Amino acid sequence: MSYSPPTLFPIQPLDRFQGASARIKRPCEVTHFSYDDNHEYKEDESGINYYHPPQIGADLREGFETFRHYEDKEDPHLDSLLKALVSKEEKSGERVQVDFVTWRGMMTKILTAPFDFFAQFDMYATLHDGTIYIEEDFAAKALDRASQNDRLPPRNQSYNHAPNPNQPTHEMMTFWGYKFETLSLLSTLPPETPESVIAARPQAPVSNYAQHCSIVRTGFGPSSLLLGGEVDGLWAAKPDPATHPDAPIPWIELKTSEELPQHRSKHDVLKFERKLLKFWAQSFLLGVGKVIVGFRSKQGILRAVDVYETNQIPGMVRRGTQCWDGNTCINFATAFLSHLKETVKEEGVYRITLRKKGGVVEVQKVREKGTGGILSEEFLEWRKNG
Ligand code: A3P
Ligand code: MG
Ligand code: MG
Repeated sequence: MSYSPPTLFPIQPLDRFQGASARIKRPCEVTHFSYDDNHEYKEDESGINYYHPPQIGADLREGFETFRHYEDKEDPHLDSLLKALVSKEEKSGERVQVDFVTWRGMMTKILTAPFDFFAQFDMYATLHDGTIYIEEDFAAKALDRASQNDRLPPRNQSYNHAPNPNQPTHEMMTFWGYKFETLSLLSTLPPETPESVIAARPQAPVSNYAQHCSIVRTGFGPSSLLLGGEVDGLWAAKPDPATHPDAPIPWIELKTSEELPQHRSKHDVLKFERKLLKFWAQSFLLGVGKVIVGFRSKQGILRAVDVYETNQIPGMVRRGTQCWDGNTCINFATAFLSHLKETVKEEGVYRITLRKKGGVVEVQKVREKGTGGILSEEFLEWRKNG
């Protein structure tokens, strides 16, 4: 069977997305879920942790040998997000109506595409009852991950025996990120934490099996979205939704980044401000108010911690190297979502592709019927009967 050619959405010229940003809604949490220490779905807040400033000078390399690194072996589709949605609808008796449902990670890729010249992505989309569901192409992601690992030395069992300690492996650098989380989070609220707990904190093995995910409703111009994504922690207690349903949730995003040299060049600042694009986009989409950056040495020693207010990051970059512009990102995403609404109009599955340095997002129908596994059986049953 042959399909029509793809529709093309060029990223350049960017000046058509400049100016004040499209109307955006502050993200509001609709529901949430956790994964436990076995990465099993839990319909609760058990995965929530609280921020406690970490010890400066800590060695982020410590504990690499016992790192419990979870990576999906099978395509997770949108299953957990849809499970939480079904449960929310069962409880409230109301259907959540939005134009788009996806993981936050997909929207991060779209939002940052105008200023990430190496951006590439492969996604699938399907229309069901007036909503477009978007997922990542799991096979393409797995291939990408494999090629990334191929170019790097194999995982070291111990950093002490790394072939070249000045050249950490990909896996080691991934570990540093999670180690920083382990050193900065506890399951108890900050004021009630006894010193002994803080002292004991670094002993806990580093693992990314457990998580907490927030599912929010948000909007870009005329498009409404339901986005699900991991939140790293809270800096204060979560407001009670029964008494404060619209209060912002004090989520934090934890990030690590190489420290800037004392005599920094324009290039050093540019490199960091480019990273801020990802930090901002990821946090902005879920309404995460603070990004806490752990600056580390090249070797992996924690040197300093800085707290950035998410909504101040675009202004910092505007006054700095101007290597990206938040309003342009928002207007680009708004226009692209409208384009998807115009394109994904029939039953079946569409593929959304941006090739590296391609400059054009292609949307092409690849299946005439069904949802290609994007929607779980459980969800389809619920919507049929609910
Ligand atoms: P850093 O971001 O500090 O490097 P997140 O920041 O999204 O909460 O993710 C936590 C950590 O997971 C990251 O910490 C990094 O170690 C790892 N990680 C996330 N996305 C990754 C990716 N695409 N490739 C490699 N590691 C990744
Ligand atoms: Mg995280
Ligand atoms: Mg993080």
